[in-house]
Amino acid sequence: MKRIAVFGSGTGSNFVALQEAFGSQIKLVISDQKEAGILQKAEKQGIPTIYEPGGRDLCQRMRSHLEGIDLICLAGFMRLIKEPLLSDFEGRILNIHPSLLPAYPGLYAWKQALEDGAQESGCTVHYVDAGMDTGEVILQARVPVLPEDTEESLHERIQVQEHRIYPQAVQMVLDLLD
Ligand code: GRF
Repeated sequence: MKRIAVFGSGTGSNFVALQEAFGSQIKLVISDQKEAGILQKAEKQGIPTIYEPGGRDLCQRMRSHLEGIDLICLAGFMRLIKEPLLSDFEGRILNIHPSLLPAYPGLYAWKQALEDGAQESGCTVHYVDAGMDTGEVILQARVPVLPEDTEESLHERIQVQEHRIYPQAVQMVLDLLD
């Protein structure tokens, strides 16, 4: 059984989707935000949690918690992953992003799509490299952008797809690691 760690800074709805799919394979949740919903949700499930504030040597500090972990899933983690984690976990760090990459990398991708007048958006699960939302794409899902959409309604439609494809993509990668 491969062991998974989830990193997140926010509410943790993708963590919940992963937890429902992979259960006790999720061994650890790390957040850079002390009050993040993802930590509270993990604690409720009895999953060990760690708060690591951002700043100097964050990836070095996180590394010390990751012995025995096979795969890292970023789920709304608002910091760039750097060395030594990139080398330690080459091909074993995934991210979910709320756009059809390479369109709209970076923050508030659903807002960028809306402001751009895009007719379609979606989400992408990709491998993490040193760039921001630049790694190789694993899976994508499309959603329409509707004329009446607000930032909230579009993000919500995208998140439904995130919760569907993130577990699928993780399973695909776990199968490759076997
Ligand atoms: C998601 O929209 C994800 O695509 C982005 O951050 C958000 C995290 O949401 N990277 P949640 O904390 O999983 O609910």
